Amino acid sequence: MAEAILEVFRGDQQGGKAVRYNVPVAPGMVVLDALHYIQGHLAPDLAVRWNCKAAKCGSCSAEVNGRPRLMCKTRMDALPLDQPITVFPMKSFPVIKDVVTDVSWNYKVNQTIPPFTPRPGVEWKMYQEDVDRVQEFRKCIECFLCQNVCHVLRDHAKQEQFGGPRFFVRVAGLEMHPLDSVSRARLLKDELGIGLCNITKCCTEVCPEDIRITDNAIIPLKERVVDEFYDPLLMLVRKIRSAKTA
Ligand code: SF4
Ligand code: SF4
Ligand code: FES
Repeated sequence: MAEAILEVFRGDQQGGKAVRYNVPVAPGMVVLDALHYIQGHLAPDLAVRWNCKAAKCGSCSAEVNGRPRLMCKTRMDALPLDQPITVFPMKSFPVIKDVVTDVSWNYKVNQTIPPFTPRPGVEWKMYQEDVDRVQEFRKCIECFLCQNVCHVLRDHAKQEQFGGPRFFVRVAGLEMHPLDSVSRARLLKDELGIGLCNITKCCTEVCPEDIRITDNAIIPLKERVVDEFYDPLLMLVRKIRSAKTA
């Protein structure tokens, strides 16, 4: 049986280091299986978060060979076994223990977003193309890999000013819902800081649900913010209107 060397981060917020483990590789094995082998045979105190092992709960996010991935969706036979496989916690979030990070900041951002609010008395009918458009955004499993890779959070630590791609996806699902009645344009501009996104598309590249985060969520939302706050013609119309009502 082939053997892999894993270098797994062991530590907490005070610090830590990569520790080497030799793991036998069985057919069909994923990185999460390798960590379970380590827990079962070599280091029972290794902390790993997971739930579904089916790429659907979003709990097992980590950095494997430096790339943000779901450990349960990363096959060992897709990695080069002639060199150590590194498994580190997501860099953009505080480490709790080993490869488990504290992602609770995301839930605080989520609470700032007004939920779906249908227009009073609206007829509950939608075109299929509208259903399809918002359906993509509802595939999100909240793995936060996109948040982890986004340089605004990862390298510039702008958590106070920037909501991150996962929440642009959520807002897109609400803003593009034809029955919703709330505008979240000011929230996007002021609280979620969508202007800080410079469309590098790194978030889209790591999304395990293949959501086209940048093209289908962020760019249309940026356009809405520009229309709402920076379109010179609309600004003029608003000025005239407010002068008339003054
Ligand atoms: S496209 Fe925007 S949100 Fe996505 S990773 Fe780049 S800067 Fe971040
Ligand atoms: S948008 Fe994709 S990468 Fe981001 S949290 Fe949702 S599923 Fe994960
Ligand atoms: S264990 Fe659920 S996504 Fe990996």
